[in-house]
Amino acid sequence: MAMIADKCEDIRVTVVDLNAERVDGWNSDDLPVFEPGLTEIVLRRRGKNLFFTTAVEDGIREADVIFISVNTPTKTSGVGAGKAADLRYVESCARQIAEVGGGDKIVVEKSTVPVRTAHSVQEILSAAENGHSYQVISNPEFLAEGTAMKDLEKPDRVLVGGNVTPEGRAAVDVITSIYAQWVPRERIIKTNLWSSELSKLTANAFLAQRVSSINSISALCEATGADVDEVSHAIGADSRIGPKFLKSSVGFGGSCFQKDILNLTYLCEHFGLPEIAEYWTKVVEMNDLQKKRFVTRMIDAMFNTVSGKRIAVLGYAFKKDTNDVRESPAIDVCRYLLDETAELRVYDPKVEPETILSTLGTKEDEDSVTICKDAYEACEGAHAIAVLTEWDEFNDLDFAKIHAQMEQPAFLFDGRNVLDLKALEEIGFRTYGIGKG
Ligand code: UGA
Repeated sequence: MAMIADKCEDIRVTVVDLNAERVDGWNSDDLPVFEPGLTEIVLRRRGKNLFFTTAVEDGIREADVIFISVNTPTKTSGVGAGKAADLRYVESCARQIAEVGGGDKIVVEKSTVPVRTAHSVQEILSAAENGHSYQVISNPEFLAEGTAMKDLEKPDRVLVGGNVTPEGRAAVDVITSIYAQWVPRERIIKTNLWSSELSKLTANAFLAQRVSSINSISALCEATGADVDEVSHAIGADSRIGPKFLKSSVGFGGSCFQKDILNLTYLCEHFGLPEIAEYWTKVVEMNDLQKKRFVTRMIDAMFNTVSGKRIAVLGYAFKKDTNDVRESPAIDVCRYLLDETAELRVYDPKVEPETILSTLGTKEDEDSVTICKDAYEACEGAHAIAVLTEWDEFNDLDFAKIHAQMEQPAFLFDGRNVLDLKALEEIGFRTYGIGKG
């Protein structure tokens, strides 16, 4: 919404939320989300054509176009628990829009939803019989965290799905005309509603599948002496495969990949396609295996035990340049290490200490987990280092100094393949990269 406000000064964007604390955060200089470049844009447009408020009903009444951007977490109980998307927030938005009224409106699904959710939203809006007409549009978001502003400014594509009726097409054109103020028309793809909804889930499933595929090969590389980075480079040079999303890692994380694949598998099961569900489930299972393999390799290398050993965990966010830890592989890796009664010293440049502790279900200074102010503090007296997020600053560390302050032999496990392992070996580290024999 900040990008729309920045690119379309003629459009008034009002972001409404029930959570007053969040809204206060968006109205302050310390935004609730860390995202490079976002603060600048918000400060530039806020109070001009970008507003944050808890006045939800006023916002609905006054708008011509409403973007539903609420979360759709995986259901934790009931039918489809652990797989299906919980659509209660989307539904309550639709009901509130219908109740408030305020004229004809275009309602845009921005949240990632299962296929045919737009249909339910449309039914709720129509059932209100409040004299207003509504067109529902699917306009999924493809930005990635850490590069969000760049992705929004120059998107590979914008997807706008609508009803295949004259009214539906007119609504698609309205939404298209917003993006067309800065996105080349040929990058704006118009589809029917269901194609748009399914494309979002499929894009994430394909991206996650690429990571799981290369991670599966990393296991074979470790067994054979091949180098997964060399394999990625070699296969990525084939223009039919392409080089992106082939970086082997300790596993993918983030709020979307796992959730969207589970959602896709639930849909397949629902529509009587169990074999298709099973195919995609493997992508998530491979990711779980990758995290377990990482810890198993640590234990094997460190003389079959990490019990009572001090492990420096460098990086906790699910990727660099974000403070988001949702589904971060670091969470599972740390939990497995704690199960082995290791002692963890965790450092991440952006993640709040409370977030780390709460995701591990522990309190600080219970000996098992200590949050450190920098990498040097985390590594002091450690038996091993585990790099779990690819923060740039880890490349600039003085590893000779770190090595001198560690227990010997000093181990280093690079879960992101970002460090120069050869140089570290020369310093004296025993190094292990992902997919490196
Ligand atoms: C992902 C998609 O990339 C976006 O297009 C989509 O809009 C977004 O989900 C969403 O649905 O909201 P995001 O989760 O922010 O974006 O981050 P990614 O860059 O996709 O990374 C996801 C995970 O995969 C990270 O843990 C990352 O470290 C890992 N990854 C990515 C790898 O391990 N290897 C790679 O080669 C690429």
